[in-house]
Amino acid sequence: MLDKLFFKRKNPENNTLLEGNIPSHVAIIMDGNGRWARKRALPRIAGHHEGMKTVRKIVKEANKIGINVLTLYAFSTENWKRPRDEVDFLMKLPGEFLNTFLPDLIKENVQVRIMGKKELLPMHTIKAVDEAIKKTENNTGLILNFALNYGSRDEITGAVKTIASEIKKGNLDPSQIDESLIESYLMTQGLSDPDLLIRTSGEVRLSNFMLWQLAYSEFWFTEVFWPDFSEEHLREAVSQFAQRGRRYGGV
Ligand code: FPP
Repeated sequence: MLDKLFFKRKNPENNTLLEGNIPSHVAIIMDGNGRWARKRALPRIAGHHEGMKTVRKIVKEANKIGINVLTLYAFSTENWKRPRDEVDFLMKLPGEFLNTFLPDLIKENVQVRIMGKKELLPMHTIKAVDEAIKKTENNTGLILNFALNYGSRDEITGAVKTIASEIKKGNLDPSQIDESLIESYLMTQGLSDPDLLIRTSGEVRLSNFMLWQLAYSEFWFTEVFWPDFSEEHLREAVSQFAQRGRRYGGV
């Protein structure tokens, strides 16, 4: 069904799928790692570790489908409230992921980015992501954007503060404030808004994720826990997206 709908023709150059309404930017709230582990009587961190493997699978598939930007909510500004051991483990995951998969990501022309308050991350996490950003900065394929220590209210608050201080310094006049100016102060500066938001694990809320950028996005929810999320699930979400009519407030 999916193939019939829009994956009719392949680009002979790189085998990406061409036709149809493929979302350019997909954002994912990767939820359910803890419940996945509990179901198996495993510690929560086992769920996060399995979730890391899912990230690898989904990045590969997103690239294959022809998605341009994949933003993944890996750690929120609220996640510091979790037990110390769990936070420490989550902070080690970007390093482990990149140690294992960076050579493949480079081969696949993936560009790694992060958005969030990077300076509050442990030094080893900063080093791992900085290295990946540097080594992939000239890649032109899928943009893999990790939201790490990211919170949308924090992001918007930061933007408002910077705009206010630019006004105070005389560099900006309030009459110049419009949507595109605000966007230029957000952490997604230069990226298009997500076309499709996916949240796993049956929760149906935004949890402080990309509140500005998701204003007109299509939402797709699944009961599946993140470690069980597969290539097929991504294709199903993309397929359903292709069938939706987006009106942006018009008719
Ligand atoms: C939410 O599930 C998940 C997180 C807070 C962490 C997400 C992190 C990963 C999927 C791995 C990231 C990988 C890289 C490469 C950075 P939860 O723990 O809240 O699950 P629960 O609601 O079932 O308890």
